[in-house]
Amino acid sequence: MASFLFFLLLLSLASAAAVVLAADDNTTAHIHFYMHDTLSGSKPSAVQVIQAPSANGLNFGSVVVVDDPLTGGPNLSSALVGRAQGFYAFASQEANDPALLMTVNLVFVGGAYNGSTLAVLSRDAISEPVRELPVVGGTGKFRMARGYALLKTYSLDGSTGDAVWECDVYAMTETVDWGAAPPPPPLTPPSSETKTSNEGLDLSPNFYFLFFLLFHISICLF
Ligand SMILES: *[C@@H]1O[C@H](CO)[C@@H](O)[C@H](O)[C@H]1NC(C)=O
Ligand SMILES: *[C@@H]1O[C@H](CO)[C@@H](O)[C@H](O)[C@H]1NC(C)=O
Ligand SMILES: *[C@@H]1O[C@H](CO)[C@@H](O)[C@H](O)[C@H]1NC(C)=O
Repeated sequence: MASFLFFLLLLSLASAAAVVLAADDNTTAHIHFYMHDTLSGSKPSAVQVIQAPSANGLNFGSVVVVDDPLTGGPNLSSALVGRAQGFYAFASQEANDPALLMTVNLVFVGGAYNGSTLAVLSRDAISEPVRELPVVGGTGKFRMARGYALLKTYSLDGSTGDAVWECDVYAMTETVDWGAAPPPPPLTPPSSETKTSNEGLDLSPNFYFLFFLLFHISICLF
């Protein structure tokens, strides 16, 4: 009887440990914002520094340097979250598959990530409704981060080229301070191809921990 109670005690300790391990899984930040890419006006946030050779009709070769404000809402006057600093180059010669090379640092200036940055190095297939951009690193709270961003064109002025892009960034990092707001549920990526078929074999560390504990309990008992 005593050893049975002991067994139960160990079992409940094991499940408590498993819960603690599971709770430690807070490592994906989700940040939602709008990126304002303004080429027109007296104070543009995006300047074309290299003009495409004339008459290629695709803008192929153009390079635009950006310091675009990132805001919490679609209106430029909504709260500033950060800035996207870097450049994009028109890097596709396919008229039916236009794409940019987008190389920017997302520099956060407020909230839980103030002072931290994320590095985005990506292809941006601008005619797609949702583009997936890789996040390749970061600094501060995003040191060693990796992840992806989902980018949508929120608005585009055909005459000036001014655009507002809606952006959802998912970044995995070692330490995340969520601030006041809990993270919203992740969006489904546009393509399910990235899921590998051997996912079912990926047993969690909790499983091994529990196995290890039960193994030791058996040794203690016999
Ligand atoms: C953006 O905000 C400003 C100031 O609050 C307001 O005047 C303007 O109408 C807003 N624009 C849009 C498109 O909502
Ligand atoms: C962000 O951090 C800087 C530098 O520490 C500080 O001066 C600034 O007030 C902070 N901004 C916000 C909105 O917390
Ligand atoms: C995980 O995040 C939630 C808020 O989303 C927070 O309440 C909890 O303390 C965090 N857990 C850890 C282990 O950081």
